Amino acid sequence: MAEHPAYPVGLRLAGRRVVVLGGGQVAQRRLPALVAAGADIRLVSPEATPSVEAMADAGEITWEQRPYAEGDLADAWYALIATSDTAANDAASAEGERHRVWCVRSDDADRATAWTPATGHSEGVTVAVLTTEARHRDPRHTAAIRDAVVEGLRDGTLVAPHRRTRTPGVALVGGGPGDPDLITVRGRRLLAEADVVIADRLGPRDLLAELPPHVEVIDAAKIPYGRFMAQEAINNALIEHARQGKAVVRLKGGDPFVFGRGMEEAQALAEAGIACTVVPGISSTISVPGAAGIPVTHRGVAHEFTVVSGHVAPDDERSLVDWPSLAKLTGTLVILMGVDKIGKIAGTLIAHGKSPDTPVALVQEGTTAAQRRVDATLATVAEVAVAEEVRPPAVIVVGEVVAVGPHGTA
Ligand SMILES: C[S@@+](CC[C@H](N)C(=O)[O-])C[C@H]1O[C@@H](n2cnc3c(N)ncnc32)[C@H](O)[C@@H]1O
Repeated sequence: MAEHPAYPVGLRLAGRRVVVLGGGQVAQRRLPALVAAGADIRLVSPEATPSVEAMADAGEITWEQRPYAEGDLADAWYALIATSDTAANDAASAEGERHRVWCVRSDDADRATAWTPATGHSEGVTVAVLTTEARHRDPRHTAAIRDAVVEGLRDGTLVAPHRRTRTPGVALVGGGPGDPDLITVRGRRLLAEADVVIADRLGPRDLLAELPPHVEVIDAAKIPYGRFMAQEAINNALIEHARQGKAVVRLKGGDPFVFGRGMEEAQALAEAGIACTVVPGISSTISVPGAAGIPVTHRGVAHEFTVVSGHVAPDDERSLVDWPSLAKLTGTLVILMGVDKIGKIAGTLIAHGKSPDTPVALVQEGTTAAQRRVDATLATVAEVAVAEEVRPPAVIVVGEVVAVGPHGTA
């Protein structure tokens, strides 16, 4: 007899009776999706795994603690037959056939009247992969296809632009510290859907090379600003491109709101009436020390960490940082944009009571192939930074945590 392929369909089970026979691993795996579909689930099983039992306790399913009995499928729309008793499974299948209830069988797919696809979700879409012909059934291969599709959509390597529901306006995307794998799933997806990307020098620049040729990539540092400030010129470029109906991504290093001027851009967009989505990013403040083996906190060593900008020196009247108070803290100090000023910063911290022996690490170009770490103390850091030719971007960590990890001196 010719084999006919299965017919794929999406069942709308909300409020409809679904019977699950057997409360073991199969039920445990399948029940969450049935619960999410809003089905009226009746589990019939003498036993259940702790997770299945918890669903019953939470009222997500109704559990009849007994073996299958004839008549259990009478008012079901759909059934999952997954007991360890083949005879009971056969009897339930026969009952399903009589009552025209579609039945999935965990023990014998050939005797089932329905098959469950391998499913995954991405941005409101369910990806369901089904082998429709029995002779090609290979659940691992099916699951691998599902994974490839869902992962591809999540990380942007599979591009399926959705023109109707894509995020309008500008997305301020935190790109993370530099390693292209350290952007968020959402950031990567928005990047894959962009028409225009305005990018900073810092962040995952390798991702820009992967963008399709029609995407216009603009280097924020190279936008001519004429009579405007550089930041105003960037804001204007964002607004102009968004007004042309383009999907614009403003790709920023780390997190947009950590010394990233993200809110200035968000405010300019709001004033221009342009929708703005903010996607957080992994900030270099934590990730760069971490990549160099330095935890910003450590039990028994540091119970706090403070992040400061070192872009203006402590004696500069524009500085908003209370360096004398920072010198009195016992925790970790994480300094961004401080390479040029580290001599004055270290001197100020020592002058206000910090030990000259406090360990210091400078981590340059963290999480990238060029990452390097240079260790010093507060007393020596100015000299060491010059001798070792440390260059921005670097994160400077001051505190005992520097000596904790495998690269530390403790
Ligand atoms: C303008 S701030 C932007 C910070 C960013 N918004 C964040 O959350 O990481 C730039 C400074 O961040 C630090 N930085 C950013 N990425 C870095 C990296 N990969 N390695 C070392 N330092 C980095 C440096 O101190 C650099 O001067």
